[in-house]
Amino acid sequence: MLISKITVNKMFTIGNVDKRMYSSFLEHVGRAIYGGIYEPENPTADEHGFRRDVMQAVKELNISAIRYPGGNFVSGYCWEDGIGPRELRPRRRDLAWSCVEPNHVGTDEFCNYCKRMDIEPILAVNLGTRGADDARNLLEYCNAEKGTKYADMRIANGYISPYKVKTWCLGNEMDGDWQIGHKTAQEYGRIAYETAKIMKLTDPEIELVLCGSSSHHMPTFPDWEAKVLEEAYNSVDYISMHSYYENNDGDTASFVASNRDMESFIEEVVSTCDYVKAKKHSLKDMMISYDEWNVWYQFSRFQPHASWIASPSLFEDVYNMEDVITVGGMLITLLRHCDRVKIACIAQLVNVISPIMTENKGTLWKQTTYYPYLHVSRYGRGTVLHTLLESAMYDCKKYGTVPYLESAAVLCDDGSLTVFACNRHMEEEIEMQIKLQEFENYERHEHIILNCDDRYKSNTKVTPHAVMPYTVDDIFREDSIYKVKLPAFSWNVIRLYRQEG
Ligand code: AHR
Repeated sequence: MLISKITVNKMFTIGNVDKRMYSSFLEHVGRAIYGGIYEPENPTADEHGFRRDVMQAVKELNISAIRYPGGNFVSGYCWEDGIGPRELRPRRRDLAWSCVEPNHVGTDEFCNYCKRMDIEPILAVNLGTRGADDARNLLEYCNAEKGTKYADMRIANGYISPYKVKTWCLGNEMDGDWQIGHKTAQEYGRIAYETAKIMKLTDPEIELVLCGSSSHHMPTFPDWEAKVLEEAYNSVDYISMHSYYENNDGDTASFVASNRDMESFIEEVVSTCDYVKAKKHSLKDMMISYDEWNVWYQFSRFQPHASWIASPSLFEDVYNMEDVITVGGMLITLLRHCDRVKIACIAQLVNVISPIMTENKGTLWKQTTYYPYLHVSRYGRGTVLHTLLESAMYDCKKYGTVPYLESAAVLCDDGSLTVFACNRHMEEEIEMQIKLQEFENYERHEHIILNCDDRYKSNTKVTPHAVMPYTVDDIFREDSIYKVKLPAFSWNVIRLYRQEG
């Protein structure tokens, strides 16, 4: 049996987890909105036309914020099409996904959905086909009280209270040539800076996210970051990062270590931000909004549609146990960088590369990847501690030598300690030894496991509970060392509670 050790000292902290670490993303694409969150014909629909079964699954996930309305969609979006009486809203061609957008859901419906769900909205403005003027109008529509054109327009539409949206994204993936209105770094940096200036004059309370590279592999990375930050550093608060991984060549050993790529991507973006900070003699640290991350089988399964129909099924990836290990690793990496990563959105929330799936007019089921997200969102709020790791290693083609064990430790707000751990070994169990320093009376424990004999098994409409987490009582303590067995190829949550009294 393999033995791996971690040492966790209560005093050695990385940082506090921002609640927006547990955010998601909803784009007008595929069946994310129509048939996903919104479906008036569904038997579970509420009086606003939103599916109660989806609301329940989202609530359970404990999502703190949702980014909307795109994604690539936002770069051609006219937000005015999505407000006012539904029967007057135009159907428009969405050039990002070659579909038709009926505009039955828009800014008001989304912000009110968030309000009812106690979730913070994060809005993106269109810097593809539009610019600063439309951005400030939308901001006024959302955040101003009354007495000016766009605030009064919102009130006339029936929404008296402003939404006070705090976080705004300055466009989406502007470095990608697939993006409608794609720009060079200089062009985008200038527009982003001027838009940021105008938006902060409109509402000084807001925070702004500048577009970073749309992936670690973009040929313009990291020059893009350096150039756009040189233009806009002083007027923005976050730079965005996006990462999608897939097992498109059967190299599972590399795929389940994808978080190693994410790890270096974060460190390189942080270095680039700090370089610009130094150059500008600034006192401000640029934070990261990892506003799209997930597994996405985009290269092997992407079929461009030019159907001009509304809400076709797009990117409805089915996740298995390999994806659990990969997503779990990504969550661990995000936690280990919580000092700089303040916002992270799993992309997306419903039906489109998503942990939650629905059937039109029918039922809902939770994918395998729902569970690691649920665990981290539920038990990963507090302060992340350093984990000193001693683990057996293996070689993989894409990322070199990597440990079989990945882990992160969170001292939760209620005083309990959670250790999240992935065993990437496909055949062997690992005995994990957790050595605690400066912790007292952590007597009670719980071990949640997600694993499966068949690593290709998925949850589907027909078998919604094929891969489910379960709890075991197998933690042994010897002085300050807790020993726990992590089954081969498993996701684990180890919870240690303080003994009261
Ligand atoms: O999430 C799907 C797409 O992935 C988004 O629209 C885009 O921003 C990214 O390329």
